[in-house]
Amino acid sequence: MKKISVSFLSSHNVQKDLVKINQSTADYIHVDVMDGRFVKKKNNPFKLLSKMSNTINKRLDVHLMDKNPLKNINYYASLNTEYITVHAELEKLDKYLNLIKEYGIKCGLAINPETDISILIPYLSKIDLILIMSVNPGRGGQPFIDDTIKKILKIKKMIVSQKLKIKISIDGGINDEVAKRLDFVDIIVSGSYILSGEDIDEKIELIRKNADKNHLNS
Ligand code: DX5
Ligand code: ZN
Repeated sequence: MKKISVSFLSSHNVQKDLVKINQSTADYIHVDVMDGRFVKKKNNPFKLLSKMSNTINKRLDVHLMDKNPLKNINYYASLNTEYITVHAELEKLDKYLNLIKEYGIKCGLAINPETDISILIPYLSKIDLILIMSVNPGRGGQPFIDDTIKKILKIKKMIVSQKLKIKISIDGGINDEVAKRLDFVDIIVSGSYILSGEDIDEKIELIRKNADKNHLNS
């Protein structure tokens, strides 16, 4: 069964939505960190998440859209974090991946829509997750980029041919309709669609049902 990671980037009341996500059937809380350099906007919910760390029991899936992520790796390693993902477009990736691993946290590489998958090749033996961006990083609520479907297949083939155990995650523009097309994806990140109604469990279950029904699981 595919896992669901809920992004609160487009939330209008972050604290309230974090409580809701925490009480929901979601598997992870997806934390989007933006540095104002790798992407235009700035956003870092670290302080709020540490303040709420006694009440939040879901594990965090941290997505660092950060040109120099060392500090944030250290910060988020202190929370209940399962994955820390940095962008494959950065330099000195080994340094970041090693630090994440030293903390005993699973490490991921995110890849932008315009970036070729060959950029991942040198790191495949090191990483636990590939986060495929299905929108340009930087804000929530954008439409899903169709070409991503081909990219998922190529990445899946690469993982299988090298007998690796890397999970595939997809991030951006996912709703119940897009979910029907997400074969070979292990973790689905969705934000604005899930948070758009009062009953977030209903939306999560729709994505889960559509993603798993009549489709190949990885
Ligand atoms: C985009 C972020 C995503 C995004 C997901 O830069 O990484 O996590 O906000 O939200 P929706 O589902 O609104 O695209
Ligand atoms: Zn994200």
